[in-house]
Amino acid sequence: MSASPFVIPPAERVANLPPYVFATIFRMKEEALAAGREVFDLGVGNPDGRPPANIIHALNTAVADDSWNCHRYSTFNGLPRFREAISAWYFNRFGVKIDPGTEALPLIGSKEGLANLMRAYLNTGDTVIIPSPCYPAYFGAARLCEAEIFELPLREERGFVPDLDGIPAEVARKARMLILNYPNNPTGGVCDLAFLAGAVDWCRANGVMLVSDIAYSELGFDPDDPPPSVLQVEGAKEVAVEFQSLSKSHNMAGWRIGFAAGGAEVIGNLGKLKSNVDFSLFGAIQMAGVEALTGSQRVCRENRELYLRRRNLMVKGYRELGWDVPKPPATMYIWARVPAAFGGDDAGFVREVFARTGVLLSPGSGFGKYGAGFVRTSLVADDGQIARIMTLLGGSGIAWS
Ligand SMILES: Cc1ncc(COP(=O)(O)O)c(C=O)c1O
Repeated sequence: MSASPFVIPPAERVANLPPYVFATIFRMKEEALAAGREVFDLGVGNPDGRPPANIIHALNTAVADDSWNCHRYSTFNGLPRFREAISAWYFNRFGVKIDPGTEALPLIGSKEGLANLMRAYLNTGDTVIIPSPCYPAYFGAARLCEAEIFELPLREERGFVPDLDGIPAEVARKARMLILNYPNNPTGGVCDLAFLAGAVDWCRANGVMLVSDIAYSELGFDPDDPPPSVLQVEGAKEVAVEFQSLSKSHNMAGWRIGFAAGGAEVIGNLGKLKSNVDFSLFGAIQMAGVEALTGSQRVCRENRELYLRRRNLMVKGYRELGWDVPKPPATMYIWARVPAAFGGDDAGFVREVFARTGVLLSPGSGFGKYGAGFVRTSLVADDGQIARIMTLLGGSGIAWS
């Protein structure tokens, strides 16, 4: 008689997590690569550029600097110099004053901070209002808190900006947190300061924390109208906390560096939680962050120009195929309805395009229930690759209209 295998089941909150939304996509990609096929991965928003030399130099300098020892544990709430740089960046970019001692917190990427904020503020069964479609990590983080998720629809006809007055009173009563993300992943939608002011009012009236995620704030394409911060709204710090990332603006996705800014109370509680689970970022990465935030911001402008050019090339190519896609005003994504011939089956469309061409897109239903019927293209291919991709798509025999 063979002994049954020794298995310790995970906690229910982990066992109940649905598989990672893009697991199938990753598998398809791995299989194709193993079979020696040509693959163009436009599924993930993983910047293909490098951080500029001054940022890499700042990291190397800090690593080699004998006047302090960045190899020791950092402080729980990060280096004062990095918190001061966060404060300076907020003032230079938005005219917002942030107290570096109490209102700024370095993060090991904003994904970490968003998940830990939920852990710090959501009890089992609390409701969190999450825009849909959205960055899928919001769903996973909320599920790990065993929170109830209300998907707030972002509709194309409203420029992907939600109607907060349409939130049912029952949901508003039970909600503890509302997440907003502008410029928006995956839709590329933007919002103005007036909308954020209305959102602050709505949250104040309903006793809800407003969580603003501005990971794409430096990738707005209108030079005369850069994306706003919720903290520009008078009194917002009482209600709102904001998360920023250096992943997209400065091509530092792999470095894991971001930060939160907001009132001392929420920043203190997030810091308290984090002090029990991590030890802040590697000091040399924080010094690179100081350079990123206070040195030349040229990389942000170059990235804006790069993604705008790629957006124009991709949109032109898609439209020439006969696929009517919109031109998003920001971000590194194109969000479009799947061609009519696919009857709204976004996963089927993605499979078909991949099988025939090796071009990998993201199915919209992976971003929430209101993402169904759409598909996301990440602008992470260079001009030459875009030309090749368009040739492959054009020769694929797929019905684009
Ligand atoms: C909307 C949004 N927020 C946050 C993140 C995570 O950024 P970070 O790399 O700082 O964890 C992403 C990454 O794709 C994102 O799209």
